[in-house]
Formats: sequence, structure tokens, C-alpha cells
Amino acid sequence: MADVYRRPPVGSKVITPHQRTDSDPQQVHVSLAGKDHIQVTWVTNDKHVPSVVDYGTRPGEYAASATGVHTSYRYLFYKSGKIHHVKIGPLSPKTVYYYRCGGQGQEFSFTTPPSSYPIEFVVAGDLGQTEWTKSTLSQVSKSDYDVFLLPGDLSYADTTQPLWDSFGRLVEPYASQRPWMVTQGNHEVESIPILHPRGFKAYNARWPMPYGESGSTSNLYYSFDVVGAHIIMLGSYAKFDAKSDQYKWLQADLAKVDRSVTPWLIVLLHAPWYNTNVAHKGEGEAMRKALEEVLYKARVDIVFAGHVHAYERFTRIYDNKADPCGPIYITIGDGGNREGLAREFEKLKDPSLSVFRESSFGHGRLKIINETHAHWSWHRNDDEFSKQADEILIENLAAARTCNADNTVPDEAQSKFTNDEL
Ligand SMILES: [Fe+2]
Repeated sequence: MADVYRRPPVGSKVITPHQRTDSDPQQVHVSLAGKDHIQVTWVTNDKHVPSVVDYGTRPGEYAASATGVHTSYRYLFYKSGKIHHVKIGPLSPKTVYYYRCGGQGQEFSFTTPPSSYPIEFVVAGDLGQTEWTKSTLSQVSKSDYDVFLLPGDLSYADTTQPLWDSFGRLVEPYASQRPWMVTQGNHEVESIPILHPRGFKAYNARWPMPYGESGSTSNLYYSFDVVGAHIIMLGSYAKFDAKSDQYKWLQADLAKVDRSVTPWLIVLLHAPWYNTNVAHKGEGEAMRKALEEVLYKARVDIVFAGHVHAYERFTRIYDNKADPCGPIYITIGDGGNREGLAREFEKLKDPSLSVFRESSFGHGRLKIINETHAHWSWHRNDDEFSKQADEILIENLAAARTCNADNTVPDEAQSKFTNDEL
């Protein structure tokens, strides 16, 4: 049950200024880029800086070096800096790598994900750049985690391009240390008739994800594997009807999933399919109608969404009814943006579906303990000691005999979970 906590009003916008030289790296962030590889992205105002990353496992000692590519873009009167993308690896699991971008400037470091359970994901959508965003990121950094998952709405630049740069600088202390995997929200579209009709100009240039590695032809939808989890990032703002490339790609991607290798099947998208908040009511309905059956038949474990600036956790659902073989739906669009909270929830028509809902900023943590069990928790920002306001132990659907005709996960997997592992 949600408690009666009442939040103060939304925090003001935070601009993170550029305080380094033009040739120094800024807006540094890393993402997973195929098996054992990481992509390093950064921006320089100086176009002569090479797209090179030097890296190694000891501070100041760079045993390896890799060269990548660069891009830039124009948007109305704005011209971006030089945006560098360099893929490095193969890298060892659960290892700290120290790295330098463009052959100069400060040293950064990141930790690679582990190669075996447990693995912990942070999930937070609709971040923006306000005092609340800072509060969320500060709470996130108080406990360790392996990979950051962002279900859309990053900078809230909304066509004011320098705000993309400011956002990159705001998140750098976090996104340079752990892989950030994102999908797009409505605030990433930024389309302009005739000039930028297809949209996503800044998003695609600044936050390219490993879509090619998963057979996708679009940065707007892709998938990746990490420690027993196959994670699918869907595009709420790309076509998703049965004739669309996204639909065909999703079918092909799901057909390749081997639940004995990746028992956990997790989907992220932006506009929620299930939502009892008054905000954005029904906006995910067309996508739900197009894709819900596909995800249900694949036995997706969890669907995370953003867009609604509140937290809401549903039970397992299929076609608007509780179903033990459907995904758990979680709305986590509460990262802390300038639009504030979605405070008004509607009266529940079916109280059995929406389990927990609260209009507060915060973040979620999904700790996958083993093949059969994961722990989900939601952490409200203002709890001084990062109290879990909501939590649930989740059983994997591939391990549930009643939902799995193939029984691809053997019975003995069920017995591996013990309370000590929590
Ligand atoms: Fe949104």
C-alpha cells in the first residue's frame, strides 16, 4: 500500500556549465556495446581532438587504446561540438577500467558488469535537469549498482540544444562510471516540419545505443544481454504496427532468446500500457494493442515504462486482467524533471491490478539474484537513508511450470534460491 507521504513542489532547473577547455572531454558517458565491449561517448568543442580512448586497469597506465568515430549535427542556429564514439574491449567482467578521452584531460573510470549473478540495475525515467534530478542521482550513487536503465525522456531540452550539453555535463559523474542504457521518450523527438521531419537528431547523435549488435536498423529499438537477462528497449515513438520494422525486429529478436541462457526477459518503453494516473491516460494503448500479445507469449517478466511522473507497480497482467503468466508492469517516470509530478491518480476500477502507486520522485533497483528470483525496490528521493518505499520478490516466468510449456528451466533451478542470497 502507498503511504501518505506528501512531497514539496518541483525543484528548479539546473544548468551545468562548461568549465573545461575546448579540447578537454565533457559529457562523458559509457554504454554496453556488444559482448565484453563498452562504448565511450564524449564531446569536445575543439574539432581537432582525435576520437581516441586510452584505457587500462591501473590509474594512469593505459595498456590499450582504441580509435572510433565522430559526428556532429546542426539544429536551427545551433551547431553541436564534436561528438566522439569509441568502442573499447574486449573487457574483463566486474573490473575497474581507467580511461582518458582524446589523449588529454582528466582520467575517468568505470566498472564493467559482472559475468554471473547477482547483477543490479538502477531504473529511472524522465530525468530532466532539476534539483530533483540531482537528488535522484545522488540517491542512486549512495549504493552500488551495475547498469543504469532509462526508459525515456532524458534532457528535456525540447529543441533548446544547449540543454542537451548541460544534461550531458550533469549526468557525467554517474554515466561515466556505469553503463547507461537508454530508450527514447517524447522529449527526444524534437522534430520540425521540413527541417527535421524524422526527429531524434540530437538523441541519435549523442546517445547511440548498440542497435546494430541486436540486428536492429534503428537506434530507437534494440536489445542486449547481460548476466542472465535479455533486455529489450522498445520505441514508443517509432512505428510498431504489425507491418513495421520494429514489430518484425521484435519478433525476430524474441525468437532468438534462449531462456536457459537468459532466463530474465525484461522490456523498457516510454509510454505505459497500464496506468491509473490521470496524466497521459491512454497514450500507450495503441502500442499495447499492437504488441502486448507478442510480449505475453514470450513470457516477458517485467515491463518498465516512464512518461508518467509518478511511481506505479501493477500485478502480472494480460489484456487488462490479472494473469499469472503476464508481465509485471512498473511505471518509473519519476526521475525528477521540470514538469513536476503527476499527482492525480484515478479511482481504481479494479483494485487487484494496481498494487502500489505514489506521486513522488525516486528510482528503482532490480537486483537479479539468480535464475529464478529477483528483488525489485523503489526508493523515494527524500528518504534520508534511501528507504525502500516499495519492494517485491519476483519469480522468473521461464521457471514457472504453469506458464512454460517447454519447461526449459529444469526443476533444480527452482531450488537454488535461498533467503541468504537476498
Ligand atoms: Fe514523456
